[in-house]
Amino acid sequence: MIFRQLFEPLSSTYTYLLGCRETGQAILIDPVIATMERDLAEIRQLGLKLACSVDTHIHADHITAALALKKAVGSSIAMPAHDRLTCADIAIEEGVPLRVGSVVLQPLHTPGHTDGHFAYLLEDRVFTGDALLIDGCGRTDFQNGSASDLYKSVREKLFSLPADVLVYPAHDYAGRHVSSIAQERKRNPRLGQERTLEEFIHIMANLNLPYPTFIDYAVPGNKRCGVCPTDLPENLDKYCAQMSASAQG
Ligand SMILES: [Fe+2]
Repeated sequence: MIFRQLFEPLSSTYTYLLGCRETGQAILIDPVIATMERDLAEIRQLGLKLACSVDTHIHADHITAALALKKAVGSSIAMPAHDRLTCADIAIEEGVPLRVGSVVLQPLHTPGHTDGHFAYLLEDRVFTGDALLIDGCGRTDFQNGSASDLYKSVREKLFSLPADVLVYPAHDYAGRHVSSIAQERKRNPRLGQERTLEEFIHIMANLNLPYPTFIDYAVPGNKRCGVCPTDLPENLDKYCAQMSASAQG
């Protein structure tokens, strides 16, 4: 399998490129519209063809590239069935693997950050979206989020995976790339060790996070599989502009 971890600096998002050597097909997990051309160039350079994109959830901090990729190269759009997006070609459900050549993703419904959130297990690694971040987790105060649901998703579903499964999150804001189930069980300050549900609910209720800058544009745009709003204020237009190679870091 071909594997690349790609970074979008504006929202500190990781996009994952998975390629099947036998069929030459590729899949992108959580592609971002601002770095779509960079990702397509990477796919071409590897001699692959994008078959499909899949999102972990309806993002609030960037616009997904799903629809723009479909228009550019004809890739199918896979989205969690829970969100009932009419623009999706494939509805993701737990228990129904997503196959692209020899790459087989096992979807894991992991609500809490959003109610329709999915993580994707691929052999020895899991793409955890915003359910589980390195030493952290996504916020639970928007998009039908629920701290008690997230506690269950992480502690009962993700932490029950084998200890050496690698954790690839949808974001990292401190330049870290990868963790493991063992490391998060042991070291995650919000969800690790013997953290109780009551303690986690208290932590999440007292984060005092600012209102997300882009949410009012990103969520409606992403419910249409990635449409940039036409009424974007000037200070936010960078979210929809193609990032130059030098800005991508
Ligand atoms: Fe998110």
